[in-house]
Amino acid sequence: MDSNKRPENMARIDSIELAQKFISEQTEQILSQVKDKKVLLALSGGVDSSVVAALLIKAIGKQLVCVHVNHGLLRKGEPEQVIRVFRDQMDANLVYVDAVDRFLNKLAGVSDPEQKRKIIGAEFIRVFEEEAKKLEGIEFLAQGTIYPDIIESDGVKAHHNVGGLPDDLKFSLVEPLKLLYKDEVRIVGKTLGLPDAMVYRQPFPGPGLGVRCLGAITRDRLEAVRESDAILREEFAKNGLEGKVWQYFTVVPDFKSVGVKNGKRTFAYPVIIRAVNTVDAMTATVENISFDLLQHITNRITNEVEGINRVMYDLTPKPCATIEWE
Ligand code: XMP
Repeated sequence: MDSNKRPENMARIDSIELAQKFISEQTEQILSQVKDKKVLLALSGGVDSSVVAALLIKAIGKQLVCVHVNHGLLRKGEPEQVIRVFRDQMDANLVYVDAVDRFLNKLAGVSDPEQKRKIIGAEFIRVFEEEAKKLEGIEFLAQGTIYPDIIESDGVKAHHNVGGLPDDLKFSLVEPLKLLYKDEVRIVGKTLGLPDAMVYRQPFPGPGLGVRCLGAITRDRLEAVRESDAILREEFAKNGLEGKVWQYFTVVPDFKSVGVKNGKRTFAYPVIIRAVNTVDAMTATVENISFDLLQHITNRITNEVEGINRVMYDLTPKPCATIEWE
C-alpha cells in the first residue's frame, strides 16, 4: 500500500477522543521507527511544525532536538512564544538560533520579491544545516508535512515554505501528520496541550514579514510592519474578528508621503491594512471592517508606530490583486 495515500476508510479526526487515539497510535509507531535514536526538527512555530514537535516530545521526549531559527521576519512575540511553550512548558530540547543579522545582511539592498524569497529560503537551509552538523548522533529528520502538501506537491513540503529538506543531510524522515488535513492537525495540537494562539493561528507565509516590508528590507520599515501588525491583531482580537477573518496583516511600502504632527511637517511611510476571507486562497474577498474600528486602528498606528504618518485600507479582492503585496 502507498504510505502517502490516505486510506479511504480512515476516519476524519473531529473529536478529542479520535485525536487521542491518533496520538497513541502515532506514539507507538514513532517509537518503533526511531527507537533510541535522535530526531531533528526545524520548529518555526507554525501550526504543522508545532504539532509535530508536541507529538514527538510526547513520544520520545529529549531524543527530539528542535531548532528554531529566528530570521528576523517573524511576527511580534513569536520567537518568545516558541521558547515559552516548548522549552519552558514542554521541557523540550530546543536550540534557539538568533540569525536576525545574518538574514537582514543578506537581504540588504535586494528589492525583487522572488529574489528575496530565494535568499530567505536558501539562508534558512544553510543555517539549519550548520546547526545540524553541530549535533551528534542525529539519524532522523521530522517534518510537518500534511496531506494537502502531499496532494499538491508530490510529497515535498517546499513549494511555499521557507526551508525545504536540506539535500545533503541524509536523514530518514519522520512525518507523523502526513495523512492529516489541517483541521485534524489543529485538533491533535489542541489535544496535545498546545495553546489556541498557536493551533488556530491565521496562515503566515514562510518568508514572513519579509514579503510585507516591500522592496529592499530596511530595519526601520520592518519594525513598522511588526509593530503595526501587532496592533492590528490586538484590535481584531478585542473586536471579535480573530478566528472570523481568514487572514489580516499590514504592509509597509518603500515610499514616503508628507504629513503633519504637533505643528511640524513630517515625511514618513504609510501602513496598508489588508484583511481578507477565502476558502482556498485562490480567490479572496475583502472583510467589511467597520469604519469606527478602522479609524481607531489608524489612530493607534499613527500614534504608536515610529516613522508612520498615514494608514490605508486595501479594498481589492483576489483577483485582481493577490492576498500578499509581494
Ligand atoms: P497570494 O498572495 O498568492 O497568497 O494571494 C495566497 C496565500 O499564500 C500565502 N503566501 C505564502 N505562503 N510562502 C508561504 O508559505 C510564500 O512565499 C507565500 N506567498 C503567499 C499568503 O499569505 C496567502 O495565505
